[in-house]
Amino acid sequence: MSVLSGKKILLGITGGIAAYKTAGLVRLLIKAGAEVQVIMTPASHQFVTPYTLSTLAKRPVYTEFFHAEEGGTWNNHVELALWADVMLVAPATANVLAKMANGLCDNLLLAVYMSAKCPVYIAPAMDLDMYVHPSTAKNLTTLTSYNHVIIPAEEGELASGLIGRGRMAEPETIVSTLEASFTQDLPLQGKKVLITAGPTYEPIDPVRFIGNHSSGKMGYDIAKEVAKQGGEVVLVSGPTNQKIEDAHVEVVHVLSALDMYEACHRYFDQVDVVVAAAAVADYRPKEIATQKIKKNAEEFTITMDKNPDILASLGAIKKHQYLVGFALETENEVEHAKQKITKKKLDLIVLNSLNDTGAGFGKPTNKVTFIDAAFTVEPMDLKSKEEVAQDIVNKIIQHYE
Ligand code: PMT
Repeated sequence: MSVLSGKKILLGITGGIAAYKTAGLVRLLIKAGAEVQVIMTPASHQFVTPYTLSTLAKRPVYTEFFHAEEGGTWNNHVELALWADVMLVAPATANVLAKMANGLCDNLLLAVYMSAKCPVYIAPAMDLDMYVHPSTAKNLTTLTSYNHVIIPAEEGELASGLIGRGRMAEPETIVSTLEASFTQDLPLQGKKVLITAGPTYEPIDPVRFIGNHSSGKMGYDIAKEVAKQGGEVVLVSGPTNQKIEDAHVEVVHVLSALDMYEACHRYFDQVDVVVAAAAVADYRPKEIATQKIKKNAEEFTITMDKNPDILASLGAIKKHQYLVGFALETENEVEHAKQKITKKKLDLIVLNSLNDTGAGFGKPTNKVTFIDAAFTVEPMDLKSKEEVAQDIVNKIIQHYE
């Protein structure tokens, strides 16, 4: 499987003859399993049609800020930029290189570029005199100083009939450059991380269960971030609608706390880090009825058995593993979280309190406080769960530095 499998690639296409090669480029990227979102400058439509590219990329192509066809939707450049794992501008004309180097922002592609936080790759293409012009050389140096990667133009016969450097790198070369970028030394390369996510369902009878409001988003966002930083992930997930497709993430679906316990212990020896973001039921019905329970009685009592504490059981046998737990509290938050650090032998706890607006279950945001084994307390701002995941993964990276 290609390392590009599941990677989100923003492909910016600008108005040069080499744009015709992007049909082949999109095909190769899609074949490698990448998700490709094409953004074209208006000028590039002269060289390759959006219909060709949207057919190959299997999604609409964007050019304008405003999308008149779909009842007037706004193509949000910030959202597009944040979506991407990598941005590739190919071909990049002399004009667009100059704009990127100097912060000009007069179309959707440039606005997305200026909002992008992901690595940016640029494959220039132009006639040879333009390529060797001092202003182009200066702009390429400036773009390199922004930590962008230039995929150099190649030598050969140009559209003008002249022979020299200026041809856009071949799609195969561009794809292998991107592949190499994803296998480079990333901070969690070689580390395996076990993550639990979502709720557990504790069956009462064949149709009913005891569950909770965890959506799984927090755990899935952590899994995505670990994979992005080069780690291998085993994601033990309770029932959730969350989706993840990444060659570096193995998803193990479980239902109940006992299933989750078994899956975590099966993988524990192989992993370096555990992040327990799941909301595990503390109790389960003692008996599971084999048939649907009838509503004849006026009262109905369920006797419950205590579930094993998965994280505490891992803490009790941990060797080299770095253990990160969560604490979801409603009162005396910091005190309770500190007790969990000791009881479960944790290295770090991520405390979220249901008293904080925007924190906890179901929501796209979370407000957490980090507490480490030395009881250092570090409150964080309210952030998106993606950003909270980045903070958690940064803590893990710092542990290995
Ligand atoms: O899924 P989302 O909607 O995105 O919401 C995220 C979240 C609120 C569920 C998440 O941020 C969170 O706080 N998860 C832990 C919730 C919880 O069960 O907290 P706890 O204080 O009961 O448990 C403490 C720790 O022990 C947790 O790491 C938990 O995974 C673990 N645990 C708890 C009980 C048990 N039987 N086994 C465990 O491993």
